[in-house]
Amino acid sequence: MTTQPVPVDLGQFQDLRAAAAGCTACGLAATRTQVVFGEGDPSARLLVVGEAPGAEEDRTGRPFVGRSGQLLERLLAEEAGLSRADCFIANVVKCRPPENRNPSAGEVAACRPWLDQQVALMAPEVVLTLGNFSSRLLLGTKDGITTLRGRSYPVGLGGRTVTVVPTLHPAAVLRGGKVPMGQVRDDLRRVARLLAEAAA
Ligand code: URA
Repeated sequence: MTTQPVPVDLGQFQDLRAAAAGCTACGLAATRTQVVFGEGDPSARLLVVGEAPGAEEDRTGRPFVGRSGQLLERLLAEEAGLSRADCFIANVVKCRPPENRNPSAGEVAACRPWLDQQVALMAPEVVLTLGNFSSRLLLGTKDGITTLRGRSYPVGLGGRTVTVVPTLHPAAVLRGGKVPMGQVRDDLRRVARLLAEAAA
Protein backbone atom coordinates (compact mmCIF):
# COMPACT_ATOMS: atom_id res chain seq x y z
CA MET A 1 0.00 0.00 0.00
CA THR A 2 1.21 3.48 -0.77
CA THR A 3 1.35 6.21 1.83
CA GLN A 4 2.13 8.92 -0.71
CA PRO A 5 -1.00 10.93 -1.49
CA VAL A 6 -1.36 11.64 -5.18
CA PRO A 7 -3.01 14.96 -6.02
CA VAL A 8 -6.06 14.33 -8.17
CA ASP A 9 -6.38 16.39 -11.30
CA LEU A 10 -9.96 17.56 -10.74
CA GLY A 11 -10.17 18.96 -14.25
CA GLN A 12 -9.34 15.56 -15.70
CA PHE A 13 -11.81 13.92 -13.34
CA GLN A 14 -14.57 16.27 -14.46
CA ASP A 15 -13.63 15.65 -18.10
CA LEU A 16 -13.95 11.93 -17.46
CA ARG A 17 -17.37 12.44 -15.84
CA ALA A 18 -18.51 14.49 -18.83
CA ALA A 19 -17.26 11.89 -21.30
CA ALA A 20 -18.96 9.07 -19.39
CA ALA A 21 -22.26 10.97 -19.41
CA GLY A 22 -22.52 10.42 -23.17
CA CYS A 23 -21.32 6.80 -23.21
CA THR A 24 -22.97 4.48 -25.74
CA ALA A 25 -20.57 1.56 -25.36
CA CYS A 26 -23.33 -0.93 -24.55
CA GLY A 27 -27.07 -1.40 -24.90
CA LEU A 28 -27.82 0.04 -21.44
CA ALA A 29 -27.42 3.48 -23.01
CA ALA A 30 -30.81 2.96 -24.65
CA THR A 31 -32.72 2.26 -21.43
CA ARG A 32 -30.97 4.37 -18.77
CA THR A 33 -32.28 7.73 -17.59
CA GLN A 34 -28.73 8.90 -16.97
CA VAL A 35 -25.20 7.62 -16.35
CA VAL A 36 -24.41 7.23 -12.65
CA PHE A 37 -20.71 8.07 -12.73
CA GLY A 38 -20.11 8.14 -8.97
CA GLU A 39 -20.14 10.57 -6.09
CA GLY A 40 -17.94 11.78 -3.28
CA ASP A 41 -14.43 13.09 -2.93
CA PRO A 42 -12.24 12.20 -5.93
CA SER A 43 -9.21 12.69 -3.63
CA ALA A 44 -10.57 10.22 -1.08
CA ARG A 45 -8.32 7.46 0.20
CA LEU A 46 -11.22 5.00 0.00
CA LEU A 47 -13.05 4.04 -3.18
CA VAL A 48 -16.23 2.00 -2.72
CA VAL A 49 -17.33 -0.03 -5.75
CA GLY A 50 -20.80 -1.57 -6.04
CA GLU A 51 -22.52 -3.40 -8.88
CA ALA A 52 -24.87 -1.22 -10.91
CA PRO A 53 -27.40 1.55 -10.33
CA GLY A 54 -30.95 0.62 -9.35
CA ALA A 55 -34.14 2.56 -9.98
CA GLU A 56 -33.48 5.32 -7.43
CA GLU A 57 -29.91 5.75 -8.64
CA ASP A 58 -31.02 5.90 -12.29
CA ARG A 59 -33.60 8.55 -11.36
CA THR A 60 -31.32 10.72 -9.22
CA GLY A 61 -27.96 10.13 -10.94
CA ARG A 62 -26.43 9.30 -7.54
CA PRO A 63 -25.02 5.90 -6.51
CA PHE A 64 -26.35 4.01 -3.50
CA VAL A 65 -29.25 6.24 -2.55
CA GLY A 66 -31.83 3.44 -2.11
CA ARG A 67 -32.17 1.02 0.82
CA SER A 68 -28.78 -0.61 0.18
CA GLY A 69 -27.18 2.82 0.14
CA GLN A 70 -28.75 3.87 3.41
CA LEU A 71 -27.41 0.71 5.04
CA LEU A 72 -23.98 1.21 3.48
CA GLU A 73 -23.87 4.76 4.78
CA ARG A 74 -24.83 3.70 8.31
CA LEU A 75 -22.29 0.87 8.46
CA LEU A 76 -19.46 2.98 7.03
CA ALA A 77 -20.14 5.57 9.72
CA GLU A 78 -20.51 3.09 12.57
CA GLU A 79 -17.54 0.83 11.77
CA ALA A 80 -15.09 3.08 9.94
CA GLY A 81 -16.12 6.57 11.07
CA LEU A 82 -16.55 7.59 7.43
CA SER A 83 -19.31 9.59 5.76
CA ARG A 84 -20.20 9.50 2.07
CA ALA A 85 -18.20 12.68 1.63
CA ASP A 86 -15.07 10.96 2.99
CA CYS A 87 -15.02 8.40 0.18
CA PHE A 88 -15.85 8.09 -3.48
CA ILE A 89 -18.68 5.70 -4.33
CA ALA A 90 -19.00 4.19 -7.81
CA ASN A 91 -20.23 1.06 -9.55
CA VAL A 92 -18.79 -1.54 -11.92
CA VAL A 93 -21.57 -0.72 -14.39
CA LYS A 94 -22.61 2.92 -14.60
CA CYS A 95 -26.07 2.49 -16.13
CA ARG A 96 -29.09 0.70 -14.72
CA PRO A 97 -29.77 -2.76 -16.13
CA PRO A 98 -33.52 -2.97 -16.89
CA GLU A 99 -35.61 -4.59 -14.13
CA ASN A 100 -32.47 -4.59 -11.98
CA ARG A 101 -31.20 -7.74 -13.69
CA ASN A 102 -27.53 -8.66 -13.28
CA PRO A 103 -25.22 -6.85 -15.67
CA SER A 104 -24.03 -9.11 -18.51
CA ALA A 105 -20.37 -9.94 -19.06
CA GLY A 106 -20.45 -7.72 -22.15
CA GLU A 107 -21.85 -4.75 -20.20
CA VAL A 108 -19.24 -5.19 -17.46
CA ALA A 109 -16.47 -5.33 -20.08
CA ALA A 110 -17.83 -2.30 -21.95
CA CYS A 111 -17.96 -0.25 -18.74
CA ARG A 112 -14.62 -1.34 -17.29
CA PRO A 113 -12.55 1.45 -18.92
CA TRP A 114 -14.54 4.06 -16.95
CA LEU A 115 -13.75 2.39 -13.65
CA ASP A 116 -10.12 1.89 -14.64
CA GLN A 117 -9.79 5.57 -15.44
CA GLN A 118 -11.51 6.57 -12.21
CA VAL A 119 -9.05 4.43 -10.26
CA ALA A 120 -6.06 5.73 -12.21
CA LEU A 121 -7.01 9.37 -11.57
CA MET A 122 -8.10 8.92 -7.96
CA ALA A 123 -5.26 6.64 -6.84
CA PRO A 124 -7.18 5.44 -3.78
CA GLU A 125 -5.29 3.55 -1.09
CA VAL A 126 -8.10 1.14 -0.31
CA VAL A 127 -10.88 -0.13 -2.57
CA LEU A 128 -13.90 -1.67 -0.86
CA THR A 129 -15.70 -3.98 -3.29
CA LEU A 130 -19.35 -4.76 -2.54
CA GLY A 131 -20.56 -8.16 -3.68
CA ASN A 132 -19.59 -10.61 -6.40
CA PHE A 133 -19.42 -8.35 -9.43
CA SER A 134 -16.95 -5.78 -8.23
CA SER A 135 -14.94 -8.23 -6.11
CA ARG A 136 -14.50 -10.71 -8.96
CA LEU A 137 -13.71 -7.98 -11.45
CA LEU A 138 -11.08 -6.19 -9.40
CA LEU A 139 -9.54 -9.34 -7.96
CA GLY A 140 -9.56 -11.08 -11.35
CA THR A 141 -11.14 -14.26 -10.00
CA LYS A 142 -14.27 -16.35 -10.36
CA ASP A 143 -14.39 -17.11 -6.64
CA GLY A 144 -17.51 -15.95 -4.82
CA ILE A 145 -17.70 -13.21 -2.26
CA THR A 146 -18.17 -15.53 0.72
CA THR A 147 -14.83 -17.16 -0.14
CA LEU A 148 -13.09 -13.89 -0.94
CA ARG A 149 -14.15 -11.76 2.03
CA GLY A 150 -12.44 -11.67 5.41
CA ARG A 151 -9.03 -10.50 4.18
CA SER A 152 -7.41 -7.83 2.03
CA TYR A 153 -5.54 -8.19 -1.26
CA PRO A 154 -2.78 -6.06 -2.81
CA VAL A 155 -3.81 -5.48 -6.42
CA GLY A 156 -2.20 -3.53 -9.26
CA LEU A 157 -4.83 -1.02 -10.39
CA GLY A 158 -4.44 2.22 -12.26
CA GLY A 159 -0.66 1.83 -12.35
CA ARG A 160 -0.34 1.50 -8.56
CA THR A 161 -0.76 -1.12 -5.89
CA VAL A 162 -3.99 -0.65 -4.00
CA THR A 163 -5.47 -2.73 -1.20
CA VAL A 164 -8.76 -4.34 -2.12
CA VAL A 165 -11.14 -5.33 0.68
CA PRO A 166 -14.02 -7.44 -0.62
CA THR A 167 -17.24 -7.58 1.34
CA LEU A 168 -20.87 -8.58 0.88
CA HIS A 169 -23.20 -6.30 -1.00
CA PRO A 170 -25.51 -4.40 1.40
CA ALA A 171 -28.48 -5.91 -0.49
CA ALA A 172 -27.29 -9.32 0.75
CA VAL A 173 -27.23 -7.96 4.29
CA LEU A 174 -30.78 -6.65 3.86
CA ARG A 175 -31.84 -10.14 2.75
CA GLY A 176 -29.66 -12.14 5.08
CA GLY A 177 -29.84 -10.61 8.53
CA LYS A 178 -27.41 -11.04 11.39
CA VAL A 179 -24.58 -13.17 9.98
CA PRO A 180 -23.87 -11.09 6.84
CA MET A 181 -24.33 -7.93 8.88
CA GLY A 182 -21.56 -9.07 11.26
CA GLN A 183 -19.32 -9.98 8.32
CA VAL A 184 -19.71 -6.58 6.69
CA ARG A 185 -19.04 -4.88 10.02
CA ASP A 186 -15.81 -6.92 10.37
CA ASP A 187 -14.74 -6.02 6.84
CA LEU A 188 -15.39 -2.31 7.44
CA ARG A 189 -13.29 -2.42 10.59
CA ARG A 190 -10.53 -3.91 8.42
CA VAL A 191 -10.89 -0.93 6.06
CA ALA A 192 -10.57 1.46 9.00
CA ARG A 193 -7.44 -0.36 10.25
CA LEU A 194 -5.81 -0.32 6.82
CA LEU A 195 -6.46 3.39 6.38
CA ALA A 196 -5.09 4.11 9.88
CA GLU A 197 -1.97 2.01 9.24
CA ALA A 198 -1.32 3.74 5.95
CA ALA A 199 -1.61 7.16 7.57
CA ALA A 200 0.68 6.29 10.51
N1 URA B 1 -26.58 -1.26 -5.70
C1 URA B 1 -25.40 -1.05 -6.29
O1 URA B 1 -24.61 -1.96 -6.46
N2 URA B 1 -25.12 0.18 -6.69
C2 URA B 1 -25.94 1.21 -6.47
O2 URA B 1 -25.59 2.31 -6.86
C3 URA B 1 -27.15 0.96 -5.83
C4 URA B 1 -27.47 -0.29 -5.45
